Amino acid sequence: MPDLLTLDQAERLGIDQVHDLYGRYVSRSQVSLIGTFGFGRDLVESAEGAWIHLRDGRRILDFTGGVGVLNHGHNHPRILKARDRFRAERRMEVHKNYLSPYVAALGHNLAALLPGDLNISYFPNSGAEAVEGAVKLAYKYHGGRRGTVLHTDIAFHGKLLGAGSLTASPEIHFEYPRLPGTDSFAYGDIESFRLALERHTDGRGHSDVYSVVLEPFSASSLRECSAEFLHEVRRLCTELDIVLVFDEVYTGWGRTGELFHFMRHPGLVPDVVTTSKSFGGGKSSISGYIAREPVFRRAYDNLRDATLHSTTYYGFGEETATALEAVAIAVEEDFPGRARKLGEILAPGLAGLAARHPRTVAGTAGRGALHGLYLRQGRSLPSAVRDLVPVRLAKDPQVYAKLLTGAVIAALYRDHDILTFFGSNQSIALIVAPPLVAGEEEARIFLDALDAVLDRGAPRLLADFVREKATAGRGPR
Ligand SMILES: Cc1ncc(COP(=O)(O)O)c(C=O)c1O
Repeated sequence: MPDLLTLDQAERLGIDQVHDLYGRYVSRSQVSLIGTFGFGRDLVESAEGAWIHLRDGRRILDFTGGVGVLNHGHNHPRILKARDRFRAERRMEVHKNYLSPYVAALGHNLAALLPGDLNISYFPNSGAEAVEGAVKLAYKYHGGRRGTVLHTDIAFHGKLLGAGSLTASPEIHFEYPRLPGTDSFAYGDIESFRLALERHTDGRGHSDVYSVVLEPFSASSLRECSAEFLHEVRRLCTELDIVLVFDEVYTGWGRTGELFHFMRHPGLVPDVVTTSKSFGGGKSSISGYIAREPVFRRAYDNLRDATLHSTTYYGFGEETATALEAVAIAVEEDFPGRARKLGEILAPGLAGLAARHPRTVAGTAGRGALHGLYLRQGRSLPSAVRDLVPVRLAKDPQVYAKLLTGAVIAALYRDHDILTFFGSNQSIALIVAPPLVAGEEEARIFLDALDAVLDRGAPRLLADFVREKATAGRGPR
């Protein structure tokens, strides 16, 4: 028998053992990156709502939003109950032979919540799979007769080969093979969009574009498209019979103050919308695309094509049962309203901090319960810091702002027990995204702590951070 670690042993591993095992079997660079921060040297005992409980007894306020996963907070009691019930009653997972009542009900509920004839759903597991499913649907809708898909110049749609080739964020900084026929336009710029369409229209006015994939609110850039832009894109896509896909993997389920961000624009209906992250209530890895009925029917609604696009884990039992409950909670607990209320505190609070700390903060952006704080790009690093920064990082033009953002994240955690993280696209922001079960009290705790951290000023924050990094002492070996 090989010497296998048991679940019990896994739960008793110390942080050094976890680092060691990661280094040998997962990724030692990941240990090095995360180990830079205090949280990379702690282990979590449990988590509930907006709070994380560490093994050493510390209680941490989680303001990361779990990159969009944690609208319901950690371990929402109704989500746990739904999953406990599923298990207690020995419900079945696999459903390739039997149809699933959970898939049926979830499809119904999404159609009831979304506008227009966004009626037909498909449920894979990750955001990138949902995006790729949507793009394949659009390609099939045109019977393979069109060859171009458009995305924006700041797009983030995931890291699989297909979704990654529609992603323009520097987060993917290596040239992997791409889907054929991708082209891009400037985010929110209608002239750029028109030019992109023209590049792929022949002399007789026939478009080669089968799909446009767009984030109405770009979570990684904290930017949003105007109503005029979105309506005009919709109009042009309708005119040219292009399948318009809104990627709401991050922004779905209330985060920006509407159930889906695009719903703040009355009358606007995409052909397909994608969802994931909080769709699983913080517990299940489920995603989905919801398509307009005529688009889906033309693409796949015949016996030959019924299973043309599927995955092994699509629509699994406990995942879809959890999503049913997650959706019900988002609606019944009014997540959009909660996000708007948090926004009423966070937006002016962050703007006030930017005004109070003009030498450190360059600006803020965001909506609802999804905000970012941009730190100032200084002219040169303090000498005490310069000597400790690796040469490769020192050459990065954004090194100062990146280090300063890291320094604020580290100080919030070390000195105020608050967890935050980076959002990364063309520029780096400190993401401010409480779970939607958090309230005014947590928002005030966060703003006061951030104020105290910024009070220290950039040079001291940087020096403390670099010193902490050096004493952590774990570079890639
Ligand atoms: C807008 C958007 N689309 C797609 C994805 C990809 O989702 P996943 O990481 O689950 O593949 C993300 C992930 O952050 C996202 O923010």
